[in-house]
Amino acid sequence: SNSPVIAPSMLKCDFGNLHREIELLQAAGAHVLHWDVMDGHFVPNLSYGALLIERVRPLTSMVFDAHLMISHPEKYIDDYIKAGCDSITVHIEAVSDPTEILKHLNQSGVLPGLAISPKTPLKAVEPYLDQCGTVLLMSVEPGFGGQSFIESSIQKIKQLKSMISSDTILSIDGGIALDTIAETAGAGANYFVVGSAIFDQADYSTAVSELAAKAGS
Ligand code: DX5
Ligand code: ZN
Repeated sequence: SNSPVIAPSMLKCDFGNLHREIELLQAAGAHVLHWDVMDGHFVPNLSYGALLIERVRPLTSMVFDAHLMISHPEKYIDDYIKAGCDSITVHIEAVSDPTEILKHLNQSGVLPGLAISPKTPLKAVEPYLDQCGTVLLMSVEPGFGGQSFIESSIQKIKQLKSMISSDTILSIDGGIALDTIAETAGAGANYFVVGSAIFDQADYSTAVSELAAKAGS
């Protein structure tokens, strides 16, 4: 369906009550959880690894979308496949052989994805777009939640949209909120990763439904 997908970014959530958080997000109408994996090397922040995702996997049937902000992802993707991720996105800036890793993911029954940081030109991923089930465009520098949306991302979404097939997910990630989501949808994004605009709100249901309404407008 082409109804907008809101994917809460699991970075600013309450990790001390993760089961409850997942239940609240599911009740709020989210169908996807975006796991922001950071290794403290590819990005200057450390979050969590496959172990955590594996432990919460049995708690929900929501789609698990892993965003690996890690160096040498080829060494670790099997851990995320085993943990039960439905899609796994690696950074083009972190891989030397995207084809190999995308093929391995595909053959493992996982939706393969490439993520592109703000400073990386689209031509860096152009040769691999037909091997991706999802493409993740960063509209903030990877590493932290709560940053401001980089305006030039709008043009980049439009450009990327013209380069991918209609069944490839175009995901936008970073600073997505009520004042930015509609423009990203208009530019061609159909999958919206949202951190602060959900987790800074008291009520997740209101946040998710308002964001979905704006994205679908
Ligand atoms: C940043 C992460 C994003 C971020 C989104 O490296 O990939 O998913 O957590 O958080 P907000 O929506 O607050 O920018
Ligand atoms: Zn992310």
